[in-house]
Amino acid sequence: MYGNDFTQQPIVEIAEDDADFQAILDADGRIEPRDAMPEAYRKNLIRQIAQHAHSEIIGMQPEGNWITRAPSLKRKAILMAKVQDEAGHGLYLYAAAETLGADRADLLDLLHTGRQKYSSIFNYPTLTWADMGAIGWLVDGAGIVNQVPLCRCSYGPYARAMVRVCKEESFHQRQGFEILHTLSHGTPAQKAMAQDAVDRWWWPSLMMFGPPDESSPNTERSMRWGIKRFSNDELRQRFVDMTVPQAQALDLTLPDPQLSWDAATGHWEYGAIDFTELFEVIKGNGPCNAQRMAHRRRAHEEGAWVREAALAYATKRDAEREAEPPAAVA
Ligand SMILES: [Fe+2]
Ligand SMILES: [Fe+2]
Repeated sequence: MYGNDFTQQPIVEIAEDDADFQAILDADGRIEPRDAMPEAYRKNLIRQIAQHAHSEIIGMQPEGNWITRAPSLKRKAILMAKVQDEAGHGLYLYAAAETLGADRADLLDLLHTGRQKYSSIFNYPTLTWADMGAIGWLVDGAGIVNQVPLCRCSYGPYARAMVRVCKEESFHQRQGFEILHTLSHGTPAQKAMAQDAVDRWWWPSLMMFGPPDESSPNTERSMRWGIKRFSNDELRQRFVDMTVPQAQALDLTLPDPQLSWDAATGHWEYGAIDFTELFEVIKGNGPCNAQRMAHRRRAHEEGAWVREAALAYATKRDAEREAEPPAAVA
């Protein structure tokens, strides 16, 4: 998911009558909607999948902001396709949460009333066109590192949704890299714009992996349940190792003077992350929290007629189907 799962919940032990559930986990099988599962597992998954879904649809806003200002028709078409993909990701994920008995309207209500979170990364503003490059390259890039292991998550519908999502995220990451590559090999002003965007998005991207392992209360339980496969710090390190050579290929600098190659560990060492900033953004004090929520609520209210019309049409079609005699089999 898009990180930032800080909700503290009590550790609930698996009861003995959940032996079948445990046997499926032990065999690295998939839990399907028909299977019995501990209530805590079900609730935990609903919350995680819903917060992931919320992140996908809120994530449309910072980039949707640039569709009318994309520098060419080709860039506009690509950006529109990307933003539309994010809506689709939200849709798969809300549908996956519904297989666990959640109601989509309730989940949206939790988002709109601030009782469920979305990834803090989307509370930062998109100031220039280069931000479209930095978001694709770094934010979608971090999203991929977080989400690829979820393709092997223990809950079948979530894992299967992630397979398609990750393929699309990979396109998003490449288009972001390509935008930055064009800018960084353009005029000095374009290169400076690309560098400025990378400077602003680097640290928030590292924070997308959540708090350090020692202060991540849910990690142990999520790993035991086969929802999470790697710790926050393992995934963050993987992202840094993947991204540093790409920054070199872009001829852009990552804003961390302590970034250095450690030949002994085979990893890139990075400087300390200022998590106080992240916690402020999570608390609602980020640059765009209020704006994102206001826009989301307004979009939901203004879209009410579409939902009502779709529901009325579906009801009418169902009634017509029931009235029709079944077609003869040839
Ligand atoms: Fe996405
Ligand atoms: Fe994406």
